[in-house]
Amino acid sequence: MKIRNAQATDFDAILALNEASVSFLSPLSPQRLTELHALAALHRVAEHEGVVVGFLLAFREVADYDSPNYRWFKERYPRFLYVDRVVVAGTARGHGVGTLLYRDMFEFAAASAVGLVTCEFDIDPPNPASERFHASFGFREAGRQWVADGTKQVSLQVAPVNTENR
Ligand SMILES: CC(C)(COP(=O)(O)OP(=O)(O)OC[C@H]1O[C@@H](n2cnc3c(N)ncnc32)[C@H](O)[C@@H]1OP(=O)(O)O)[C@@H](O)C(=O)NCCC(=O)NCCS
Repeated sequence: MKIRNAQATDFDAILALNEASVSFLSPLSPQRLTELHALAALHRVAEHEGVVVGFLLAFREVADYDSPNYRWFKERYPRFLYVDRVVVAGTARGHGVGTLLYRDMFEFAAASAVGLVTCEFDIDPPNPASERFHASFGFREAGRQWVADGTKQVSLQVAPVNTENR
């Protein structure tokens, strides 16, 4: 398993991964992905035997990103790394790929002298896999809000960057 920077040739695979888990995420078009890639502080893929089996997209607090969850953090914290999405292929889940992507992301945060990582996951309807995954990295709830025209409620989460989650 290799964690490396995402590049344009990975975009079809990334779009397919996003689409397969879109109920837990927001939709992504090729144009939107190109925009988010340009805004991202960190865009990484997990590659296994030449196949992209996961990706992670994260923004610093200075990004011009219009997501309501990102804006929630921007209004409250001066300096952070926001994980916009982390996705592992259904067939590869439960084997530590998400953990590798998150360790890599926390290393990046530490190397950038960022002390706080933020993200959100759905709580209504719930996403228990994501909830446990994030709890294992020391995330805790900082707030809640309804998004997507009131169709889902998210838990807004924060985690300190420390030696335990890298
Ligand atoms: C959340 C996600 C990225 C986790 O990736 P993963 O590679 O399966 O996670 P890992 O194998 O590294 O698991 C790490 C820990 O997360 C938790 N976890 C992961 N999957 C879980 C599941 N299905 N049920 C309960 N806990 C789970 C466990 O605590 C696990 O540790 P353990 O194996 O020691 O029990 C993956 O399930 C996924 O892509 N889901 C769909 C997209 C999504 O929901 N993304 C997050 C949006 S907020």
